Amino acid sequence: MTTIAVIGGGQIGEALVSGLIAANMNPQNIRVTNRSEERGQELRDRYGILNMTDNSQAADEADVVFLCVKPKFIVEVLSEITGTLDNNSAQSVVVSMAAGISIAAMEESASAGLPVVRVMPNTPMLVGKGMSTVTKGRYVDAEQLEQVKDLLSTVGDVLEVAESDIDAVTAMSGSSPAYLFLVTEALIEAGVNLGLPRATAKKLAVASFEGAATMMKETGKEPSELRAGVSSPAGTTVAAIRELEESGIRGAFYRAAQACADRSEELGKH
Ligand SMILES: NC(=O)c1ccc[n+]([C@@H]2O[C@H](COP(=O)([O-])OP(=O)(O)OC[C@H]3O[C@@H](n4cnc5c(N)ncnc54)[C@H](OP(=O)(O)O)[C@@H]3O)[C@@H](O)[C@H]2O)c1
Repeated sequence: MTTIAVIGGGQIGEALVSGLIAANMNPQNIRVTNRSEERGQELRDRYGILNMTDNSQAADEADVVFLCVKPKFIVEVLSEITGTLDNNSAQSVVVSMAAGISIAAMEESASAGLPVVRVMPNTPMLVGKGMSTVTKGRYVDAEQLEQVKDLLSTVGDVLEVAESDIDAVTAMSGSSPAYLFLVTEALIEAGVNLGLPRATAKKLAVASFEGAATMMKETGKEPSELRAGVSSPAGTTVAAIRELEESGIRGAFYRAAQACADRSEELGKH
């Protein structure tokens, strides 16, 4: 039975835990650490996992160790657990979910030969609809990579990418749920402006975006084709689309994605 350690039971750590448990992993094989005792207890009450505050204790004999702390703590946590990882009877794999921290930086702060996988997750993991990219370090073998992919696939889709693409990936999937939340917020406000009750506007906007996202995923059609399908000549939709285009929606997304990728690159330098 695989033993998992999740170092940092925050948003991403909890999303992962909830997905693993929904996929029938025994919660008693999942150890979750937080510095604060209260948060650990909250997670234990919610999921039945083993909560700890000692990262080395969590890493002891763990098969896979997920690092779900903020990027600035990754190197510190790795140095803290590296001795324990060295003493484990089977080779543990370390999986970092942190933005900006390179595989080389992680390999350098651990003992030589540590298998490290770098993942860029996103929060829809919490509802089993995450998008995670994986990039393997030098010492990860095919079986270890498969094991990590299998675990991540319990909380959504998984795609292997080159490390050089990760800043772009951050702009595309790591941060993009927030873009849709913002667009939804704006549409709801526009509905209220048209006189709809807020709850009605929210129901209509959220259900429509969910349906549209499912259509893009399940039909395999291009988004442009699906859009053309709901834009009758001189109709209502095309009138709205023209406004969005004239307001510069495409340019805004080019600039937003660039800003996100630039920031991701910058974070990686510190
Ligand atoms: N949120 C996103 O949308 C997203 C998307 C892509 C990637 N990520 C990456 O995922 C990672 C986690 O992000 P998050 O949003 O989940 O952050 P978060 O909600 O702040 O969670 C971090 C957790 O780590 C715990 N922690 C901090 N230092 C620790 C330590 N030394 N030992 C053990 N636990 C510790 C914190 O609890 P205590 O303070 O109680 O210790 C907290 O629960 C980040 O590296 C981020 O780059 C996040």
